[in-house]
Amino acid sequence: MNEVVKAILERRSVRSFSSEPITDGEMELVLKAASFAPTARNTQAWYIMALLGQARIRALDAKLKEASQLKGFDRYKDFVSSPEYTINYKNAPLFVVVGVDPAVSFCPVEDGTLVLSNILLAAHAVGLGGCWINQLGAVSDEPGFRAYLTGLGFPATHRVIGSACVGRPSGAAPKAPARKHGQISVLR
Ligand SMILES: Cc1cc2nc3c(=O)[nH]c(=O)nc-3n(C[C@H](O)[C@H](O)[C@H](O)COP(=O)(O)O)c2cc1C
Repeated sequence: MNEVVKAILERRSVRSFSSEPITDGEMELVLKAASFAPTARNTQAWYIMALLGQARIRALDAKLKEASQLKGFDRYKDFVSSPEYTINYKNAPLFVVVGVDPAVSFCPVEDGTLVLSNILLAAHAVGLGGCWINQLGAVSDEPGFRAYLTGLGFPATHRVIGSACVGRPSGAAPKAPARKHGQISVLR
């Protein structure tokens, strides 16, 4: 089977990671693949903030937990405040936040999602694994949390589209959820 198609079919959301670090080479390849995602009218108006290592990720996790407790963020409150919850499933050594400048991009959500898709696919292709993490996007415009992101260098102009953790998978490879049927039609 074609290698690219094989990677697409075999990629799964990975939620269990070993504590083994990833190499700079692996990370750079994943980020390079991200930078080759298509963007509407080739604006490439995205920004990727990559946090490497547990210390940085734990600090972001703590800020997320803090922001999630504020009024208006009830959706993830209980989930995120659970001691079991971390944005990187405890061990993933890389966490990426993807933003897009809505003043430049014609399709911010689509552009950013394709960047994240490339990250997850490339991670799989180089023997790593990753998972989209939704909770950060939900609080990304809370002023205190946003100020923290800005302080880390995330551009104030950019809307957070999504985030993902990436690391070295541990345990059994997740199985593909059953595919739904009847959602493709081919007209000739
Ligand atoms: C937009 C989006 C948000 C997601 N958010 C989360 C999340 O917050 N936590 C999580 O564990 N998985 C998250 N996922 C992963 C999905 O649960 C996963 O893709 C789905 O169950 C299908 O499994 P697969 O990726 O292994 O094919 C998200 C996926 C997408 C596309």
